[in-house]
Formats: sequence, structure tokens, C-alpha cells
Amino acid sequence: MNYRHAFHAGNFADVMKHAILALVIEHLKLKPAPCRVIDTHAGTGRYSLDAVAATKSGEWRDGIGRLLSGAIPADVAQTLAPYLDAVRSANPNMSDAPNAIPAVYPGSPLIARSLLRRGDYLVANELHPADHAELARHFAGDPQTKVMALDAWTAMKSLLPPKERRGVVLVDPPFEEPGEFHRLADGLREATRRFETGIYLLWYPIKDPKRIRSFRARLADLGIGKLAVAELWIRKPVNPDLLNGCGLAIVNPPYLLGEKLDVLLPFLADRLAAGSGAEGVYAALGSAPLDRV
Ligand SMILES: C[S@@+](CC[C@H](N)C(=O)[O-])C[C@H]1O[C@@H](n2cnc3c(N)ncnc32)[C@H](O)[C@@H]1O
Repeated sequence: MNYRHAFHAGNFADVMKHAILALVIEHLKLKPAPCRVIDTHAGTGRYSLDAVAATKSGEWRDGIGRLLSGAIPADVAQTLAPYLDAVRSANPNMSDAPNAIPAVYPGSPLIARSLLRRGDYLVANELHPADHAELARHFAGDPQTKVMALDAWTAMKSLLPPKERRGVVLVDPPFEEPGEFHRLADGLREATRRFETGIYLLWYPIKDPKRIRSFRARLADLGIGKLAVAELWIRKPVNPDLLNGCGLAIVNPPYLLGEKLDVLLPFLADRLAAGSGAEGVYAALGSAPLDRV
């Protein structure tokens, strides 16, 4: 396990993933019944943007840094509000001035926790011993959060279905081992058998478009009812060795999420572009908008 999220926290992929996670949690909160967030690959939860790792990679500058570098149109601002509220809640001293940069970037478990209500529950799972220890420190004494150190693929089996029977499962592997795309699809098939009505967000990197097309086809073959993907391509994928974008496969996407992402993703593609040909797409699997990419 070499991957450390501290080098990547707040990058373009985090912005996209965390903005969508926040929208899904807000959707779950529309009903009074409690819900649960299960974060299978949680990381440490909290990243100092002036720490050595973040400074060395500088990735956050082209993510949250760029996002906050200019005015945000009102319709996009509304869609980003839950996410940016979570970023602000991790930075209570952050100025409201345009271009203000957060000192701390909250990872997925911190974002989720800051949006949950009393009675909702978070399970944050992280296998790396040092990252798990740090994660556990951040949530020490929190009765609404359980921090675990299971292998994520085991966790997906043993934690589902949650007792609330309402919730979102974020699966965010580091993709440092071969076969991760297959494991993701297989894990999803297993998980949806246990918790069919759950919302699932599965993150994947976009490098070679051919690989992405075959991953989408594999997902479509699982025969899961409601399945969409949100993809952010930060440049035309001329070089398949580069991280050219990222995607989230979304099972049981909430009502109206598609309309929100149709506004958000093109904006993110524009603001976070790393070259020509950037685009943001949301579509049900197998539908026309994805045939372009
Ligand atoms: C992309 S990072 C997670 C980032 C986090 N979800 C966020 O958005 O802030 C992936 C994490 O998965 C952890 N990890 C890798 N393999 C794992 C496994 N088999 N089970 C649980 N965690 C694992 C890594 O240590 C790393 O912290």
C-alpha cells in the first residue's frame, strides 16, 4: 500500500467526487428517516494544504484552488453549496473573500460527517495503519461515527445492508494494483445483492478511453437497474498514461441529480481544464452522451 491521499487531497478528482457525495447526502436528508454513509476507502479525513505532501505535489492548486479562484455562477454555486459548506466547516477561520484558500482540505469522511444530522451514522474504513490511526484520532469520541480498519472488499460484504436501509456507499480505491476495475465491478455486484436500494458512488480514474469504455460495458452487463456515470475529462486523452479525468459510477442516482450535474460538470470541466478538449458528462449507462467519449 504505497498510495497516500495526502499528495492528492483537494485535486480536481476530489472536487468532483466530494461535490457529488455532498449532493447525495443532501438528497438523503430530504426524508426524516436516518441514513448511513459507508466510506470504504476513507483516507485520513483531513489534510493540511501547507503540509509537505500537499505542497510537494501541488495538486490541490489545480483543484480546490482553481475552483475558488474566480466567481461562480449562481446556478453552479447552488449545486456546490453543500460541498463548499463542508470545506468551510473544516476551516472556521477561512475568509469569505473571493479567492480565499482553505488551510485544510476535508476528505470524504469529514465532508460526510459535517453534513449528517443527529441520528445519521458514518462508517469510515481505512486499511493503511498510519492513515487509519489518524482517521481514528479525528473521530475519537464521536458517537455517530465508527472507524474501522477492514479490507474494503470485505467491508462491503460485512457492512451491508446497513440497519437504516437508507444510505450511500462511497468506494474510492487508489487504483495502485492491477485488476482494480474488475474488483470494483465485482464488488458492486456483490454489494447490490445485499443492499439493492442503496446509493453507490464508485470512483475510477480516466487514462485510456478504451479501458473506460470496457469498464462501462462491464458495469452495464451487471444488470443493475439504475446506473449512471458522471465523468470529468480535464483534457482530450491523447496520452493514455496521464490522468486525463475521473469518473463516478452512480447506482440509484437520486432524483434530479442528473439535472444538477448537467450544470455542474461542464462548469468544472471549464474551470479545472488541463488542456483542450475538457468536458463534463452525466449520463445513464449506454446512452448517447457517452458515445462521444
Ligand atoms: C483515494 S484514497 C481515499 C480518499 C478518500 N475517500 C477521500 O475522498 O478523501 C484511497 C484510500 O484507500 C486506502 N486503501 C487502499 N487499499 C485498501 C483496502 N483494500 N481497504 C481499505 N482501504 C484501502 C488507501 O490507504 C487510501 O487511503
